[in-house]
Amino acid sequence: MKAVITGASKGIGAAIAELFASKGVDIAICARNEQDLKEFHSILEKKYPNVEIISMPVDVSDKSQIDKFSNMLKSTWSTLDILVNNAGVYAPGEVHTEDEGVLENMMEVNVYGPYNLTRALMPYFLKQEHGYIFNMCSVASLIAYPNGGSYSITKFALNGMTKVLRAELKDKGIKVCGVFPGATWSASWAGVELPQHRLMQAEDVAKAIWLQLELSPSAVMEDIVLRPQLGDL
Ligand SMILES: NC(=O)c1ccc[n+]([C@@H]2O[C@H](COP(=O)([O-])OP(=O)(O)OC[C@H]3O[C@@H](n4cnc5c(N)ncnc54)[C@H](OP(=O)(O)O)[C@@H]3O)[C@@H](O)[C@H]2O)c1
Repeated sequence: MKAVITGASKGIGAAIAELFASKGVDIAICARNEQDLKEFHSILEKKYPNVEIISMPVDVSDKSQIDKFSNMLKSTWSTLDILVNNAGVYAPGEVHTEDEGVLENMMEVNVYGPYNLTRALMPYFLKQEHGYIFNMCSVASLIAYPNGGSYSITKFALNGMTKVLRAELKDKGIKVCGVFPGATWSASWAGVELPQHRLMQAEDVAKAIWLQLELSPSAVMEDIVLRPQLGDL
């Protein structure tokens, strides 16, 4: 199998990339910082020498970079099985006090990025009548909470896009899934003083995603909602 994972140099995306590679899935990963991406690429290459790993620095908020990435993939891979739209940014705030432009910036990464990449790679899935699309939503896609601000708006929108895709693609052999993690250890939580067990591990999210790939063709997990055992923070 072959998978594309965005925002895969750190955090949840890196955990998904590593789990997929450990299962023998060829992976194409992207993130903005080229150095971080190269370092992660070479770690994976050493650990999983039999897996093909492609990496490219891409800012998913920039449509021309999405086009470059998808064109490179189309000239390299004749098939694609899995797309994980994971890249996302989080800025806490309140709609009525946050800085001007915060909503626009997060929409570009959290919504337009997945929208444009999904559209660019859809020809693979339609031609094959097979494929898996995972959109990294959040519990902030399901409930509003104080200080969620524009982040929550963008994640509700991504959930909306996921539901639309599910309705459009259910009779085309393509499984669409929204992933809704609660608090998960990653760079976003750096400096927060909480005991290790209070948040989930990025690997927990990766393992839940993998379960979808083990289902028969007649079943799909539409939503994967994961929370820390002790609940939301
Ligand atoms: N951690 C949580 O508690 C939590 C909970 C619910 C949902 N989520 C969602 O899960 C996803 C991953 O979060 P995370 O906590 O793992 O984040 P993270 O540790 O900050 O990692 C984010 C990854 O995305 C990349 N990235 C950021 N902006 C990008 C852009 N414009 N284009 C391409 N790549 C970009 C980053 O690399 P560069 O900076 O080099 O680009 C990095 O590889 C996000 O969509 C987030 O909203 C996280």
